[in-house]
Amino acid sequence: MAKITQELALALPTLGKAVFSQPTEKGQAQKVEIRPLLLKGERRYQAERFQDNKAFHQNFTEELLCAWAAENLEGRYRQVLLLTDTESRQYILKRDGSYKKTGGAATVPRPVGAQGHNREKDYILREGENIPALVDLGVFTKDFQIVRSKYDKFKQINRFVELVDQSLRDERAETIRILDFGCGKSYLTFILYYYFAVRRGMKTEIIGYDLKADVVQRCSEIAARCGYDGLRFEVADVTRDRLADTKIDMVVTLHACDTATDYALAYAVQHGVKYIFSVPCCQHEVNLSIRQGGELDLLLEHGIIKERVSALLTDSIRAAVPEDAGYAVDVIEFIDFEHSPKNLMLRARYTGRRKSAGRARAEALREQYGFQQSLLKLIENM
Ligand SMILES: C[S@@+](CC[C@H](N)C(=O)[O-])C[C@H]1O[C@@H](n2cnc3c(N)ncnc32)[C@H](O)[C@@H]1O
Repeated sequence: MAKITQELALALPTLGKAVFSQPTEKGQAQKVEIRPLLLKGERRYQAERFQDNKAFHQNFTEELLCAWAAENLEGRYRQVLLLTDTESRQYILKRDGSYKKTGGAATVPRPVGAQGHNREKDYILREGENIPALVDLGVFTKDFQIVRSKYDKFKQINRFVELVDQSLRDERAETIRILDFGCGKSYLTFILYYYFAVRRGMKTEIIGYDLKADVVQRCSEIAARCGYDGLRFEVADVTRDRLADTKIDMVVTLHACDTATDYALAYAVQHGVKYIFSVPCCQHEVNLSIRQGGELDLLLEHGIIKERVSALLTDSIRAAVPEDAGYAVDVIEFIDFEHSPKNLMLRARYTGRRKSAGRARAEALREQYGFQQSLLKLIENM
């Protein structure tokens, strides 16, 4: 006669995930998943309950989890799956209220921090993971499989989160506030919320700004359905409207059109935002205004080359300005070129150490070649 709470308690030291499904009574959560997570460097457990198309989260110490499970889960779910680092065990509920083990198999231990040559292994988000927002957004099917036509999008947001994870893995703060400039359909915005609020159990507030009222409305509805209380969307023109003036920890942009990226970077630098993750999109401004003016004229002779040079010049300025303002900046290949040609990411973290001269050099080039560049203009008085 197995008590499932005891089985769970034994599995906790190596637990990957526990899933309780098929509730015995109406009114119970349809499913409960339990995962380990690190809070301020301490191992904790998060229970995620799915009820009425919403997800609710609660974090526990080991002791409190076992007490909670005894009261809320024992005998109340017909099927239980326990996944540990080495095993997958299934149980069903018997008539007498005990659980019978019906299946078990060895699982391949996950490499911890290993960099396999197959990048899939390093993904933070996995196909099959219960992320209701991705179902609503059409990236996952109802069984949490990737929709074929959304594969590139899935890869993109996964990579974005992976890069965020690399930078913030050791961050000890319990809360995080993020602004997403030009969030659009908000695949990234939802996933960042999931990563910080659900996976890491942080108090998370994110605002996604976009020009389009209909997408803002739709994203707000999805956030409400998922129970993502800290996630909201606002109709705003980020180049004109007044934006949040509370303390913000991170600014993100993913393919925000043209100069929207410059406004995001200017906001971050002017408000002392600690982290910036920005994948620029089209960079028309410099291309439309640059004139011949010196040693680089050869690069401006042909339209396609001029366009590419202008885009690289724009992104170089976007890296130089935060460096000059005390950020450590990496320019990294965000995703393989085959998945998106817009594949550079500027990843910046405020350190207070200024790498000066970048901005002055950019301004000198602007003088020489007569181009317009919004970021340089926006920070003129800084
Ligand atoms: C190419 S989409 C990218 C959407 C999303 N970040 C993603 O990667 O899926 C660019 C979005 O930026 C929004 N946008 C462009 N200019 C904007 C502005 N000035 N203020 C707010 N949103 C803007 C557009 O409405 C559009 O939804």
